[in-house]
Amino acid sequence: MRRPVIAGNWKMNMTASETRVLLGQLKASLAAAGDVEVIVCPPFTSLAEACSQLRGTAIAVGGQNMHWEEKGAFTGEVSAAMLKDLGCTCVILGHSERRILFGEDDAMVNKKVHAALAAGLTPILCIGETLEQREQGVTQAVCRRQLEGALAGLTAGAAARLIIAYEPVWAIGTGRTATPQDAQSVIGYVRAWLREAYGDTADTVRILYGGSVKASNIDGLMAQPDIDGALVGGASLDAGEFTRIVRFEVQDR
Ligand code: 13P
Repeated sequence: MRRPVIAGNWKMNMTASETRVLLGQLKASLAAAGDVEVIVCPPFTSLAEACSQLRGTAIAVGGQNMHWEEKGAFTGEVSAAMLKDLGCTCVILGHSERRILFGEDDAMVNKKVHAALAAGLTPILCIGETLEQREQGVTQAVCRRQLEGALAGLTAGAAARLIIAYEPVWAIGTGRTATPQDAQSVIGYVRAWLREAYGDTADTVRILYGGSVKASNIDGLMAQPDIDGALVGGASLDAGEFTRIVRFEVQDR
């Protein structure tokens, strides 16, 4: 059985003061989160606040990005060790906004995955196709290329520590969610790819869906056999919405 994960990607939202307020609400509403792993990923400037407020709680903290080098002259970047030292346990890597707006390619994401694992952080690796690619029918090919690129050189033992998030770019921030069947179809493909590459390790890797996940659509997504959780953007900024997402209800999983 894979333990479900609900992760909030706050993107460039929430000052440290706003973080204090939102996490105060979440700590109260998620005091008993049940058997769901809950992660919040605030911006760098709010990580210290989040880590100190959530220490000793069941809510984990992750970064939204990091550099692959350990240290040095890389103005504006932060390292895996810096995240780890604060108390982060994971880091989002290869988000489509990083790829599209900031020029990250598969080779860079690959270096980041290796660096995160070496530092003891769990990578939350994001993959997914654009609308144009979906319309061209190359969704699987795009996901395969991103997986092959990001995971090059990874052993099965290391792959077991990954979380993968399938986030179709056309569903991010658009209010247009993939149907549970669409999401299952691609995520099922990702698991099949993992099985080819790493054998039975494929059964332990958690694969999340991301893209306009809300309280109103989480239950249908979580009912799918290969969807192990969600990477939530906008709805993770609202304590009530995020709490309901964490408390998803599935009849017959
Ligand atoms: P939204 O939930 O706002 O669509 O964002 C999804 C996302 O990009 C999470 O990483």
